[in-house]
Amino acid sequence: MPQLNVSKITTISHHIDAEQALHPKATGDFTGLMNDLTLAIRIIARDVRRAGLNDILGLTKSTNVHGEQVRKLDLYANDVLKATLSKGGHLCALASEEDDEMVLIDVANKKKAKYVIVFDPLDGSSNIDVNVTIGTIFSLYKRIDAQTDECPTEADIIQPGYKQAAAGYALYGSSTIFAYTTGHGVHLFTFDPTIGEFMLTKENVRIPQKAPYYSCNEGYYNRWDEGFKQYVDYLKMPDEDSGRPYTSRYIGSAVADIHRTLLKGGIYMYPADTKSPNGKLRIVYEANPLAMIIEQAGGRASDGKNRILEIKPEKIHQRTPLILGSKEDVFECEMFMRGEHPSQKK
Ligand code: AHG
Ligand code: MN
Ligand code: MN
Repeated sequence: MPQLNVSKITTISHHIDAEQALHPKATGDFTGLMNDLTLAIRIIARDVRRAGLNDILGLTKSTNVHGEQVRKLDLYANDVLKATLSKGGHLCALASEEDDEMVLIDVANKKKAKYVIVFDPLDGSSNIDVNVTIGTIFSLYKRIDAQTDECPTEADIIQPGYKQAAAGYALYGSSTIFAYTTGHGVHLFTFDPTIGEFMLTKENVRIPQKAPYYSCNEGYYNRWDEGFKQYVDYLKMPDEDSGRPYTSRYIGSAVADIHRTLLKGGIYMYPADTKSPNGKLRIVYEANPLAMIIEQAGGRASDGKNRILEIKPEKIHQRTPLILGSKEDVFECEMFMRGEHPSQKK
């Protein structure tokens, strides 16, 4: 019989209720939204588990706004999230990686619907067909003017990341994990398929201040700028005092690489390069939510110069370079990118 400390049983709904109690003016919309979201994630997780037995592997015939070929699971996850989240009456608009434009949600009482949500329905598409961890990334904002009767506009969707009301992700890996923050720390839940619940497994996760792991696509080395090349060269140079050489880890699903970075520390980097001068990842539904999670755990997230959460996006699908992880590692990388690190002056 497995040992279980019953005094430690906390479901995600218990936890969200407790978070809501921190906000005396809460209307229940946030709780309703999170319930809809975790339902969508349970549906996606169930189908990911059966991938290959059902018809969700492989490509569709279409390409998305980014010119990438859309996989069946990208579209399926997008449809599940949109259907589930549109029903509750808590949202007035949403935006997704897989939709060119924001989507208005027709709610009977528009005044009541004060939230907008943005998501990457399936992150790590290239890993779907080979049974490697993938995920869903989301962030939630309050409308700029929560009292208005007017339809929401794109301005409600492209608010700077520091305005996020909540952010997080689901990971479909060796277990299904849900991570979220409302600005009061980062909490992790593990899905127990035998009871159909997400159970709290780590509260207030803290990322180490420095750790010997780096994560980037080194195949692009020759496209990087000089400062960044020198930083990655430096990480590989042995030096016992600073824990080098660092260990390289790159899954190719940002959400999974960043989840590992959250737990183990170190640095995740998707910089600009000559082919992608603005980086690859999208600010609104990839970089911002992941940056909020990392900052809430005590780490740092930047575009190489500025804090990600202070960037004011101009478009829904805007890209950004993304460097995040343990504070000391990110600061060191930024110094190299400015050409200021002592080891560059030798
Ligand atoms: P998505 O599957 O949502 O399009 O995102 C893929 C992203 C990200 O998850 C990953 O880190 C990155 O693409 C990998 O890109 P490279 O193959 O260029 O390394
Ligand atoms: Mn993605
Ligand atoms: Mn995606």
